[in-house]
Amino acid sequence: MRFLNGSIGSIFKQMCLAGCVGLIFSSVPASAQMATGKAKFVGNVIAGYVPSEYGTYWNQVTPENGTKWGSVEGTRGSMNWGAADVAYNYAVSKGYKFKMHTLVWGSQEPGWVKNLSSSDQRVEVEQWIKAACARYPKSWAIDVVNEPLHQVPSFKNALGGNGTTGWDWIITSFHLAKQYCPNAKLLMNEYGTENDPSARSKFKAIAKLLKDRNLIDGIGLQSHYFNLDYMNASQMKATLDDYASLGVDIYISELDIVNGGSDAGQLAKYKELFPVMWQHSSVKGITLWGYRSGETWKDGSGLYSNGKERPALTWLKGYVATTNAKTK
Ligand code: XIL
Repeated sequence: MRFLNGSIGSIFKQMCLAGCVGLIFSSVPASAQMATGKAKFVGNVIAGYVPSEYGTYWNQVTPENGTKWGSVEGTRGSMNWGAADVAYNYAVSKGYKFKMHTLVWGSQEPGWVKNLSSSDQRVEVEQWIKAACARYPKSWAIDVVNEPLHQVPSFKNALGGNGTTGWDWIITSFHLAKQYCPNAKLLMNEYGTENDPSARSKFKAIAKLLKDRNLIDGIGLQSHYFNLDYMNASQMKATLDDYASLGVDIYISELDIVNGGSDAGQLAKYKELFPVMWQHSSVKGITLWGYRSGETWKDGSGLYSNGKERPALTWLKGYVATTNAKTK
């Protein structure tokens, strides 16, 4: 009897051990992203593989290079979707918003495009847009044109050149995007306008042309360190207010901050500028451009180093989780 009791007791203990551990874990919320349940997302890039901790922070995905024409079709007619598929499949499986970046851009276009005749360029760019849209039909948004003020594509004239509006090639690009990706938000993305009123008014004028034609849903402000490190909160707010007058969504699309490189410098600038974005009603979501130190395009912008959060990341996730984003 004693023997029986003993073994039942030990079986019970083992069951309880498994059960109790299950109980403890089930009372801890499933690893949430910092912006889960918030009115805006906080996203990041995926560059070829999904880091194991990615889903504990970010809830929107942009491929860092995977959906650039030059990455996909480095050789004419031979499409390499590998890196794009990794990012897309992950985002779709998790229910995160996926943004294609980017269809028409003068940088990272395939080397072979510039040497084609204009009519061949026109065929090729349309084929590229059609193929990308067909492959990623659940894309939430697309940077249709990237950096129009800085990096004009070699195939601009094939898309109508300046034309009568001055920016016909952009209008054609958006028509193509709308035709082949009818379910995605269509965005135009740019850097360097954050603290430059004259660049801003140019960018706004293009956005207005698109808006008048019902072609654009929003603009992306890259918000890279080389602009934001040198801005204060009131400048950032003035920029967002200025863009808000367009009446389209605003996205912070490629945020990174270095600010001297120290933990304290980066933390201070995040604390100063991020709340301005989070609390601006026209800003609908924020995407950071990398976070793993040693893997970001600019050294010093990383937020997560050797498996540990830098102070700016710890602050950011606390701030986002505990502060309601302003949407109205
Ligand atoms: C950068 C990537 O981060 C790098 O890996 C790549 O070598 C060059 O492009 N603006 C953009 C992004 O719109 O696509 C750029 O990404 C950074 C600047």
